[in-house]
This record gives sequence, C-alpha cells and structure tokens, in this order.
Amino acid sequence: MSITIKTAEQIEKMRIAGKLAASVLEMIEPHVNVGVSTGYLDQLCHDFIVNDLKAIPAPLNYNDFPKSICTSINNVVCHGIPGEKKLKKGDIINIDITVIKDGFHGDTSKMFITGKPGVKATRICDVARECLLTGIKQVKPGVKLGEIGKAIGLYANSKNCSVVRDYCGHGIGQGFHEMPQVLHYDDGRIKNSPVLEPGMTFTIEPMINLGGYEVVTSSLDGWTVTTKDRSLSAQWEHTILITETGYEVLTLREGELII
Ligand code: MF3
Ligand code: CO
Ligand code: CO
Repeated sequence: MSITIKTAEQIEKMRIAGKLAASVLEMIEPHVNVGVSTGYLDQLCHDFIVNDLKAIPAPLNYNDFPKSICTSINNVVCHGIPGEKKLKKGDIINIDITVIKDGFHGDTSKMFITGKPGVKATRICDVARECLLTGIKQVKPGVKLGEIGKAIGLYANSKNCSVVRDYCGHGIGQGFHEMPQVLHYDDGRIKNSPVLEPGMTFTIEPMINLGGYEVVTSSLDGWTVTTKDRSLSAQWEHTILITETGYEVLTLREGELII
C-alpha cells in the first residue's frame, strides 16, 4: 500500500475522529490520580468512547491487544496494558487513545504526572512534548518526510535524551497504521523519503528516553515495551493533516497551543 491522499470528505471525517480522540484525553485528565488503577482508567475511557462518542476504541482486539487504551508508566515506553496496577506519587503515565468514527481513525496521546512531579519526571515529559512540537513544525508540502525525524533527533540529543528507534509514527485514515512510517530520528535516508503533499494524514509520536534508546518487549504479555536500562520514557502523539500551507493538528485539545 502506498500513501493515501485524503479527499475533502475523508478529511472532514478525520477531523471528527481526531476531535473525539482528543476529547477522551480531556475527559480522563481529572481521573488520573494517585491510587487509581490503569484498569479503571481503561474502563472510563472505554465507556466514554462507546456510550458518549458512539465510536470504537481501536486498540481493543487489534492484533489481540486486550484493552481499549494503552497506559504506559515510568520506564514503560509504549503499549502498556491497563490492569490492576495503581498509580503512585510521582509516576509518569502516557495514555494513548485511538478511536474509530465513521470508519476513520484519530490517534493521540499525552503524559500525566501524578502527585508532586519529580525533576526527572518533569524533564523527560517536557523534552518529549518539545520533540513532538519540533516535529510538527517541520510539516508543510514539499518537505521530505525524513526532515521530521531529523529535527526531533537533534532536539532530543541536545537535551541528552535518546529517541526510540523500534517504533515510529504512521499514516492513518481508514487504517489504524497506514503508510508511511514516520521516523523520529535521522536514519540517513532523508533523500529517499517521500515528499509531503496536501491531504496526507499521519501521526507524529516520539518516544523519548532519559537513558539509552534500546527497548525490550515483554515476553510475558507480548506487548509492554520498556527501556532496556530501566530509565524513564515519555511520549506525546498527535494526528496531523498536511494542508496547502502547512499543517493542521487534528487531535488538538481545548486550549492547547502549538508554539
Ligand atoms: N496507539 C498506538 C499508536 O500510536 C498503537 C497501539 S496498538 C495497540 O500507534 F494494539 F497496542 F493498541
Ligand atoms: Co499512533
Ligand atoms: Co497512539
């Protein structure tokens, strides 16, 4: 499959799906507190997506993923499975939401810190958010896709953090994970990467580690990805539309600024 260029009608559906995904993160924010289990957060999001938004939680049963959202705490990089585990003081948690509405996907995630934020926790969450913003700001027609990852990698390294290489952003639309792969580092092949065109939709979702870039996937559940050196990891994700003049963030939350 090649990169799909969305029609005006499809873009309108992507806008709706993106807005709904963002609204789930807004809904869950006041519930992300010390003592709350990730399974409870999953239940709240699932019920909100199904009953209020009349949408589908895309992760549920996706490649046999067992829950409706991903919850990734501290040294967990991504794909954490919600369960009994309760949030502790100073934890950092990524909540990753993907909804399907009218056949189209909206995919977004953000970090939360519970209790009093520690210095390292604040640092990795801030650097990862800045990485996302740096990537978004590269987006406009005519630019090579690989420039996004190059800018993110340079920023992360300037802050002495590392970029996870084993997972990337992705085209999105009627498929959850479409072409192209959106790298968050420079693989030395920018020239070979596609040129951005209006109507493309993809995610940018850098996973940034306080230590080394290497990650390990749990052999127990087959999903949970952790940093090899157990260092903290943070991730922020938006679904982006390439417009005639630049970009539109389809999963922008109320009051959120891209500056
Ligand atoms: N939402 C994740 C992403 O940003 C994918 C999660 S796949 C799942 O691409 F199966 F773990 F849910
Ligand atoms: Co994604
Ligand atoms: Co996601």
